[in-house]
Amino acid sequence: MYFSLPTEYREASVDELKDRIRLARERVGDRLTILTHHYQRVEVVEFGDHLGDSYGLSKVAASRKDVETIIFCGVHFMAEAADILAAAHQKVYLPNPLAGCPMADMADMVDVLQAWDYLKQFGGEKKIMPISYMNTTASLKAFTGKHGGLICTSSNAPAAFKYGLERKDKVFFFPDENLGYNTGIKFGLKPEQMVIWDFAREGGGLSEEQIDRATIILWKGHCHVHITFTAEHVRLTREQYPDVRIVVHPECPPNVVAAADANGSTSFIVDYCRTAPPGSTIAIGTEINLVSRMAMQYPDKKIFELSGLTCPVCANMYRTTLNDLAYCLENFTDLEPIMVPEPTKSDALVALEKMLEIT
Ligand code: 13P
Ligand code: SF4
Repeated sequence: MYFSLPTEYREASVDELKDRIRLARERVGDRLTILTHHYQRVEVVEFGDHLGDSYGLSKVAASRKDVETIIFCGVHFMAEAADILAAAHQKVYLPNPLAGCPMADMADMVDVLQAWDYLKQFGGEKKIMPISYMNTTASLKAFTGKHGGLICTSSNAPAAFKYGLERKDKVFFFPDENLGYNTGIKFGLKPEQMVIWDFAREGGGLSEEQIDRATIILWKGHCHVHITFTAEHVRLTREQYPDVRIVVHPECPPNVVAAADANGSTSFIVDYCRTAPPGSTIAIGTEINLVSRMAMQYPDKKIFELSGLTCPVCANMYRTTLNDLAYCLENFTDLEPIMVPEPTKSDALVALEKMLEIT
């Protein structure tokens, strides 16, 4: 896909962009709402009507039937989910259409269908429930809905696993092996009950016995931002700041999650910072824009990024600028909305609504 902002928007000053955004909002009034994910740039968050994690924002998208237009400052799978949940009279726009999620792209439908076909010999849909993370394409959400499964986010994954394992013998979880594994542990499973399906290998690289014994089959996928955190970062941080509390996102590797004091969705991390007593020292293992915003918002607490070495930035979340937002707000009637075609939309809706029902 090619996308380039007109020069006028690329060259505008920050003050001009902010004025144009405010004016455009006034012109449209309450027929439009702006959703911003916690990883967005601080200057973009300033213009959000709703700020949240991917679960919270999907609930907003499902409930704000009063608006005609939803501008989603986040990444592509989030805007797709909003379109699936929105009513027919509503349109969803992604201000920077190039903002994707590499993790969501790690579960290609050709590989998923091949894996599902292979697993027929282990009972298929009768015995295995597909559960997909919100960070997936609409096609994988639709596959999940069509095969009796549901969607989850980092804030409700244990509830989704409970739902799955009360009804089927096994869960096939897409596409984040770390979130899946960490959720399995939270849920009380043992490491040996979980196996990783490597889509690049015949039979997922697993023996029949391994599949037979597994309770959770984890798709081999990860978030490149969160796998930069290591248990050594946790150890060094504790050595340097004996009173530190460490909070991480469950997309981090299992040994990081195990060594941290707490883990949870982006909203969980925000609440953790908000409710910590003044004077607290908090190291955060997640995307840098959220960490910087927390540090700015709570100057009475010492808040910093856990690794100290790398800069855990999600380049895709970072793509959305004030320039994009101004352009989108002033021109959305001429822009292409994010539209999930049928029957993908209806099948994906089944899986998303199941998530909303159980949480
Ligand atoms: P949350 O669901 O916690 O907002 O996380 C979304 C995400 O993409 C984390 O990398
Ligand atoms: Fe995707 Fe990772 Fe960015 Fe979240 S932080 S949107 S999982 S690439």
